[in-house]
Amino acid sequence: MLQTISWTGQAARLLDQTLLPTETSYVEITDERQMWDAIKRLVVRGAPAIGVAAAFGVYLGVRQVEELSGFKPKLKQVCDYLATSRPTAVNLFWAIDRIYKHARSHPRYRATPQKLLKILKQRVLDEALVMLEEDNRVCRAIGRHGAKLLSEIFPGRDRIDLLTHCNAGGLATVQYGTALAPIYIGTEQGMKFHVFADETRPLLQGSRITAFELQQNGIPVTVICDGMAATVMSQGKVGAVIVGTDRVAANGDVANKIGTLGVAILAKHYKIPFFVAAPTSSIDLSLATGAGIPIEERSGSEVSRGLGKQTAPPDVAIYNPAFDVTPNDLVTAIITENGVAQAPYIRSLALMCEPRARVTSPSPRG
Ligand code: MRU
Repeated sequence: MLQTISWTGQAARLLDQTLLPTETSYVEITDERQMWDAIKRLVVRGAPAIGVAAAFGVYLGVRQVEELSGFKPKLKQVCDYLATSRPTAVNLFWAIDRIYKHARSHPRYRATPQKLLKILKQRVLDEALVMLEEDNRVCRAIGRHGAKLLSEIFPGRDRIDLLTHCNAGGLATVQYGTALAPIYIGTEQGMKFHVFADETRPLLQGSRITAFELQQNGIPVTVICDGMAATVMSQGKVGAVIVGTDRVAANGDVANKIGTLGVAILAKHYKIPFFVAAPTSSIDLSLATGAGIPIEERSGSEVSRGLGKQTAPPDVAIYNPAFDVTPNDLVTAIITENGVAQAPYIRSLALMCEPRARVTSPSPRG
């Protein structure tokens, strides 16, 4: 398994996902501006990975502070700044808020200002490191719940055929993924899978990233163009759809990569279960419905030149929303690290997010 984010001791090391699948290369990020840029340009992408990257970005910003009096203002400034990098994945805001609160809620220390400054910086780094490790644990728990669910709905099946959209695999998290975690955990348990990966226009996270990581991990994968999903479903080749998400509203409406809504509508038409896998850090209980989820609009050049070649007339109008919202009635279940939520989501998601439901210690099987 490739690790998307790691800490070298001096810098955050990111796998540069803009270069996949032809190049596996890493960049070392040493300040908050570089981190902002890496998030914006999708060097690091996928909701959980963005959150952890931003947490390191906060540390990289505050570590330059030289006087204790400058720590709090800089902390606030760096947090506000990183929060402007991308709007849709709530994990970004969740992570920044968590780091901010952790840094501000320190116990009283009897120390010189310089010593105290050092302690505060260390607290920020320590929390980012906790989040890095926690992401692996959470993803593996999602994988266990998801694998169990799939084995229950497809009992005795030699092979389970899934369709996924975009990349919600290990490369969208620190290491294990959300939507692909049930496949990895299920494989460890002896289950067999085949995955259709939608190519995912315009930036091809499905063909560049999902197909790459599944192949690397020995899982049979077939790439299809986005417009082919209806055909493979109509041919009975898809047992279930499983996708990740950037933000889930309290009622179970789900934002994910543009095109997910179309897949969900098709799945309903062909009576195929549509699952969403999400850490509870992707659930935004402050939003009643998906209508409140901010949808990122990206440059039109991603559509007209996304493949490195001009594929639309120069200066033609282009609309490029990066995400869409799938209404809860199209969602069969939402698989979290704390269990599987089903309708009515307003109750089941709130339950999943209760603090006592949290995965706090590694399971013996994970
Ligand atoms: O624009 P991206 O590549 O960051 O979009 C990613 C997705 O939409 C993923 O499906 C989502 O973040 C879930 S990742 C576990």
